Amino acid sequence: MPTATAKDAARRVERLREEIRRHEHLYYVLDAPKMSDAEFDRLMQELKRLEAEHPELVTVDSPSQRVGGKPREGFVKVEHSRPMLSLDNAYNEEELRAWERRVHELTGRTDVEYVCELKLDGMSLALTYSGGRLDKGVTRGDGYVGEDVTTNVRTIRSVPLSVGKDVLKKAEIPANFEVRGEVVMPLAGFERMNEDRERQQLARFANPRNAAAGTIRVLEPNIVAQRRLDFYAYFLLRDGRTVLDRHSHSLEALTAAGFKVNPNWAKVGDIEGVLAFLRKWEAQREKLGYEIDGVVIKVDRIGLQEELGFTGKAPRWAIAYKYAARAGVTQIEDVLVQVGRTGKLTPVAALKPVAIGGTTVSRATLHNMDEIERLGVKIGDWVTVERGGDVIPKVVAVLTEGQLPKEAKQHPRPTKKFKMPERCPVCGGHVVRVEGEADHRCINANCPAKLREALLHWAGRGVMNIEGMGESLVNQLADRGLLKNVADIYSLTKEKLLSLERVGEKSAQNLLEEIEASKKLPLERVIYGLGIRFVGERTAELLAEHFGSLDALMSATAEQLEEVPEVGERVSQAIMEFFAEKKNRELVERLRKAGLRFKGEKKQRGTQLAGKTFVITGTLSQPRDHFKQLIENAGGKVSGSVSKKTDYVLAGDEAGSKLDKAKELGVKVIGEKELAGLL
Ligand code: IVH
Repeated sequence: MPTATAKDAARRVERLREEIRRHEHLYYVLDAPKMSDAEFDRLMQELKRLEAEHPELVTVDSPSQRVGGKPREGFVKVEHSRPMLSLDNAYNEEELRAWERRVHELTGRTDVEYVCELKLDGMSLALTYSGGRLDKGVTRGDGYVGEDVTTNVRTIRSVPLSVGKDVLKKAEIPANFEVRGEVVMPLAGFERMNEDRERQQLARFANPRNAAAGTIRVLEPNIVAQRRLDFYAYFLLRDGRTVLDRHSHSLEALTAAGFKVNPNWAKVGDIEGVLAFLRKWEAQREKLGYEIDGVVIKVDRIGLQEELGFTGKAPRWAIAYKYAARAGVTQIEDVLVQVGRTGKLTPVAALKPVAIGGTTVSRATLHNMDEIERLGVKIGDWVTVERGGDVIPKVVAVLTEGQLPKEAKQHPRPTKKFKMPERCPVCGGHVVRVEGEADHRCINANCPAKLREALLHWAGRGVMNIEGMGESLVNQLADRGLLKNVADIYSLTKEKLLSLERVGEKSAQNLLEEIEASKKLPLERVIYGLGIRFVGERTAELLAEHFGSLDALMSATAEQLEEVPEVGERVSQAIMEFFAEKKNRELVERLRKAGLRFKGEKKQRGTQLAGKTFVITGTLSQPRDHFKQLIENAGGKVSGSVSKKTDYVLAGDEAGSKLDKAKELGVKVIGEKELAGLL
């Protein structure tokens, strides 16, 4: 028989899961959060704590289990219930009309309705559910056999781990079903991930599609979870067959069942409607937070789809209209060198300005010398430049003789090899390339370029979030010597700010408030903000969690550092080197004086027992430490002796003098059951 506490726990766990699922759906699927992140974290922490105390209650579809899987050795191959085919493409209106004519011919009707959807630039994925629970997530693979990436799919917050029976019934979905859709990496996450990778001196991902495809196959679910993929559903199947009578009904049913369906779809009556849809989204694609490369048009009625059937590799009832690639051809006029926060020198091509997808591009990154050599690119070369969403344009290829535009042939220009400078273009310091690394660096610790980047990093999104402290302000402050390091930010005054160009009373005030607010950010942000080599956002989080304070981190030995998950020799060395530097230690002291958070928060803390003091005595069903933990996790305090200040004495069997004292002082005495009630 389960004890009363166990039963209560089971009930509470169920309630928590429902709450968490509801808020996950609001946040990740509907994009309409109704709860602060902190509140959400509290619910999740409580659930995790209860599950840790009652392991028998853990289920695979519990929202706490998104990152449950062990790192895997490889992925198992799985056959698809029905091949995951690709689509035929149309590149212009003519090809689209030709497709429609064929649909009319083959069905013998002209009143065919279509569903238009955005063509998301990611990777397709099949999810199978049995009994309403997520069973498997499988990549497309070669279309017939894919790879089982379930542990990674589970980390995608917009993928429901389970769907309730009632919900399925209402949406007319059987308990065993399959959902197909696209896994994408939203642009904001893509940019942040690449920035983070750059700080850790790892190669950037070329575009969000590669990043999504690469991430879903990473062997470490922790990393996948951190990269924040998204999943948009577009097919609902059972035993490889469509369940409902119209594609639009499938999309509605998937939405009702809690899947994220891209909201920008429309049902249209003819090809004119399709064309209007294409134009609308071509104009608006830049505003989406993810990349699309076209529009997919599907015949709505499943009956007609079946009549139309398939060619060898693609359905006849659907077609992909591809937007013109956002690439352009232009000439490299020069190669400039930018210096980053870590001193990294990045070669950047200065281009003859070229219009690509609505904007003029005049700079494109060349990443590093390895990339320049790989492309074989020289100053004066004609090149193809690609641009995607927010992504920095990049040079992707050098044109060969036959591909050159007329202009190039009319005014041929000698080309010149680019050489990395030996001196930093910003400070004149020495530039070195460490053996085995792709990057060149300026080794002058006081290089102003590093300072600027360090300040921008500190103030940036995901670090100290000091809104208003952008490039132009940082440049002015650094140029005038008002900021010599990040700690100086906390000595800025209104007078100093007002002495700058384009800074008025109001914006100075706002900025000071932003700076003040940044002091309240948690320890991990401070660690991340310091800009220690290889310490990205995630590592900073793990370090904060493990050490609990900056002081503990600073005095840690290499061995202690390497106890932290994901911290190896390279990272531990970088941390030790950072804190060994006198200048850095001085900086840390100034940050401490400024009032930044140097201690971690105990995240699990609830508030049910906030302000209450307990004394534990007698023999309980579990060691005293267990109850101490419970009380502390709920925000209470545990003290050793009974006094007037004690709120409760938790007494077990054979409680002695402390119990007497409690009675004498009139302090409330409770048992385990009552404690559970308070919790
Ligand atoms: S339907 C048999 N709908 O495009 C039809 N595909 O070029 C399968 N894609 O492999 C696809 N957005 O990865 C469909 N709304 C959408 C899509 C979409 C992106 C991708 C998918 C597919 C590729 C075909």
